[in-house]
Amino acid sequence: MVRRVFVFLGLLAACSATLAQVPADGAALFVAHCQACHQPGAVGAPGIAPPLVGNIGRHAVNEEGRRYLLHVALTGMVGSITVDGVRYTGNMPSFAATLSDAELAAVLRHVLGSYEKVADLAWLTPEQLAAARQAGGSPNETHKIRGRLPAGG
Ligand code: HEC
Repeated sequence: MVRRVFVFLGLLAACSATLAQVPADGAALFVAHCQACHQPGAVGAPGIAPPLVGNIGRHAVNEEGRRYLLHVALTGMVGSITVDGVRYTGNMPSFAATLSDAELAAVLRHVLGSYEKVADLAWLTPEQLAAARQAGGSPNETHKIRGRLPAGG
């Protein structure tokens, strides 16, 4: 009986080790966690959530914009924003408790790489997410960062 328990525990350890090595799937994470609001293809919906496609790529090209993108996924955001003349006043939820650094990096890489065709994503790593997480912040502060962005808040 005791031996069986050990065999079971061994199998369990082997399984979780394998699971830990599977890279996070950004496309699947987008469908599971973002698509309900940002819509398939991240095209957005007035009154619900802004588009990410044709929008957030402009922030991925400078340091302040990159910092904003990491923070908005971690802290969420409150307050009105304007995207291409359309005003959105919604509540972007925080994903700090729901998604790991690796998962957040993967889902942001998916949106920026697949939808926005941003070529340089070398800065978007789990380590950078961990650093942004460590730095802290709040939905309000993230809204303020957006207001100061070089590419327009
Ligand atoms: C419950 C609905 C909801 C979900 C789920 C959601 N978002 Fe958002 N998101 C919003 C809203 C609303 C805003 C605009 C917030 C505001 O008006 O301050 C936003 C804003 C953003 C922005 C900033 C856009 C800009 O123009 O600055 C990014 C980036 C973003 N979301 C990414 C994501 C990602 C990635 C996910 C999934 C991990 C996600 N969102 C899930 C509602 C949502």
